[in-house]
Amino acid sequence: MKILTIIGSPRKKGNSYQAAKKLETEMKNKGNYDFEYIFLKDTHLEICKGCFNCISKGGDLCPLKDDRDMIEEKMQEADGLVMVSPVYVMQVTSLMKNFIDRLAYRCHRPVYHGKKAIVLSTTGGMGLDKTLKYMKDITEVWGYDVEDECGLTTPPFPYSEKLKKKIRIKY
Ligand SMILES: Cc1cc2nc3c(=O)[nH]c(=O)nc-3n(C[C@H](O)[C@H](O)[C@H](O)COP(=O)(O)O)c2cc1C
Repeated sequence: MKILTIIGSPRKKGNSYQAAKKLETEMKNKGNYDFEYIFLKDTHLEICKGCFNCISKGGDLCPLKDDRDMIEEKMQEADGLVMVSPVYVMQVTSLMKNFIDRLAYRCHRPVYHGKKAIVLSTTGGMGLDKTLKYMKDITEVWGYDVEDECGLTTPPFPYSEKLKKKIRIKY
């Protein structure tokens, strides 16, 4: 089975990528899966202009010519989807949000195809549930059955000895 993993972190080898690789390993232990990764950071995706063309006339009438069609083709070809974003200020990253905005027309013409999906998020400690729920809701509107919501809490940055001396830690 072909799985497409879409990563919305601007950090290519960051916590979210590492969590996604761990998920890949776990899944490969259980079945025959091929993974392909799309790093939104490396794609050319313009910001939605809000022209409503895609919503009122059709997805193919978006005036922006960039990597959106390529990503949608890969989603079409794959048997399953993994949506990955770290929590940035209590929500998905702007990279992931812009990607979701660019597929806004799909929310207005939901087509159920029943492919399986997993949503995955990493966080420093807050906003995980909301972020996972948001990605789950969107992925379901895109026609997927979301099988699992995976969350990983990681310290956002290591407290260096130098920093510890500068800050007063209360607890
Ligand atoms: C701009 C920014 C905003 C963040 N906002 C939150 C937040 O609202 N809540 C939280 O618990 N962690 C927050 N974090 C921490 C990240 O969610 C966490 O470190 C995550 O694992 C980073 O994943 P990445 O390495 O794939 O970028 C934020 C980090 C950054 C850089």
